[in-house]
Amino acid sequence: MPRPAFEGHLKTMIIAIDGPAAAGKGTLARRLAAHFGLNYLDTGGLYRLVGWTVVRSGGDPADPASATAAARALDPAALADGRLLADPALRAEGAGQAASKVAAIGTVREALLDFQRAFADRDPGAVLDGRDIGTVVCPGADAKLFVTASVECRAARRLKELLDKGEQAIGERVLEEMRERDARDRARSVAPLVPAADAVVLDTTELDADAVFAKAVAIISGRRPASL
Ligand code: CDP
Repeated sequence: MPRPAFEGHLKTMIIAIDGPAAAGKGTLARRLAAHFGLNYLDTGGLYRLVGWTVVRSGGDPADPASATAAARALDPAALADGRLLADPALRAEGAGQAASKVAAIGTVREALLDFQRAFADRDPGAVLDGRDIGTVVCPGADAKLFVTASVECRAARRLKELLDKGEQAIGERVLEEMRERDARDRARSVAPLVPAADAVVLDTTELDADAVFAKAVAIISGRRPASL
């Protein structure tokens, strides 16, 4: 059942933010959560954690048995505490690649589903960002945004992010890895990266973070900007 249209600051609401890598979902989702006073969950962090756990123990993240065991072993109480997902090692591209491999395995996705839904249902509501929030995790979300940008733009943003963190990175390699990960996320048979039928697509190629935030707030508040 769709919830009533959101006007101002209601008590419970779920906002789904989906889109490809480095489209600006995380920045936007955090700001929206702060603005509307909601909890925030970076669901990519869950897949990164599972993928990285398998890699760290010497396993292959594309192996369904290892990946499913790692996903089922996650303790929801430890996850809810947030510290597990704050590990900086999870932000590296190695963890991103491992994440997109475990994420293509249906039993891994199933193992993570209850935690995500329970998180979304907690008061006062939540902003979740990922790939399948509007399509699978929270199909009844109050607002759904599909945040995207050209792959060149997304790769340039990710490169800047890495260089700002003092990491070594080569533009061409970042672009290549991003294309590879996008292709895997779009082509998989379970929960592929695709906008929900009722999502508003927000192309951020020409927009800075403030402009994206302003448009998103307008969309969520039911005042669709004229330029969309
Ligand atoms: O931060 P970035 O956009 O690069 O990636 P992320 O959101 O941390 O997600 C890492 C990987 O996890 C993605 O490439 C997807 O394969 C997978 N993922 C997913 O399948 N479903 C989600 N809801 C979130 C992430």
